[in-house]
Amino acid sequence: MKILEAKGLTKIYGGKKQSVAILKDINLAISQGEFISIMGPSGSGKSTLLYNISGMDRMSSGSVLLNGKELSSLTEKELAHLRLYYMGFIFQQIHLLKNLSIFDNIVLSAYLAKKDKKEAIDKRAKELMKKTGIIHLKNNDIMEVSGGQLQRVAICRALINEPEILFGDEPTGALNSTSASEVLDILADFNDQGTTIMLVTHDVKVAAKTERVIYMLDGDIVGEKHLGKYQRQEQELRARENNLSRWLMGMGF
Ligand SMILES: Nc1ncnc2c1ncn2[C@@H]1O[C@H](COP(=O)(O)OP(=O)(O)OP(=O)(O)O)[C@@H](O)[C@H]1O
Ligand SMILES: [Mg+2]
Repeated sequence: MKILEAKGLTKIYGGKKQSVAILKDINLAISQGEFISIMGPSGSGKSTLLYNISGMDRMSSGSVLLNGKELSSLTEKELAHLRLYYMGFIFQQIHLLKNLSIFDNIVLSAYLAKKDKKEAIDKRAKELMKKTGIIHLKNNDIMEVSGGQLQRVAICRALINEPEILFGDEPTGALNSTSASEVLDILADFNDQGTTIMLVTHDVKVAAKTERVIYMLDGDIVGEKHLGKYQRQEQELRARENNLSRWLMGMGF
């Protein structure tokens, strides 16, 4: 079953005199439960693609169906609703509220969504914090934890409303390779439990743990590599990394 489908997605920046197509007639279908990464050189349009298929930005033309809803036909209010209830977002720069504790940062959007009672939300937040290994930091200030721990806070926050699909724009970009690897394993666990995930990454080691890698060049999807689900074995991982590296070299990465 498709959770997201983009057809002829185009994004043009600029005015009448000079306009540039940043996304050129993109076609992409994502199945429920998939774990996808987007790679490609800087400026190839990866972030723009993520923003346009998640309704954070308005496409210039084309169609994006998310859970059967055409994004271009939705009002800002309807888009905001869809983002709150169906999507989770993790970015490289983590925007957390400095005057709230770690725990309050995680639960805030769920309190706002009012989908569940406070007790149920708090319980879910604690479960997420246990799974990501940060439960002991519950009452900490956000200035009192490491970068890797903050990234886990961002994951908990993105998952608190149980989104159908999780988007990440270089969610491990600020981490060292050990932390990045741990964060990816956490995301893979959530993917195993059914959350569809789409990540932008520059890191072969990160992309090697995803199921399908999409390669962008100059506003277009120019290749894709199916790696299959990651089974979490050391040897398998090395083979996946080698396989992907060779393919990326062929793509000119
Ligand atoms: N608001 C904007 N107005 C005009 N051009 C923009 C705007 N945002 C992005 N661009 C241009 O669109 C192109 C794609 O940008 P995008 O941020 O999607 O690239 P990216 O693949 O995510 O790159 P990186 O790996 O560096 O994050 C770039 O050439 C960028 O300069
Ligand atoms: Mg980007």
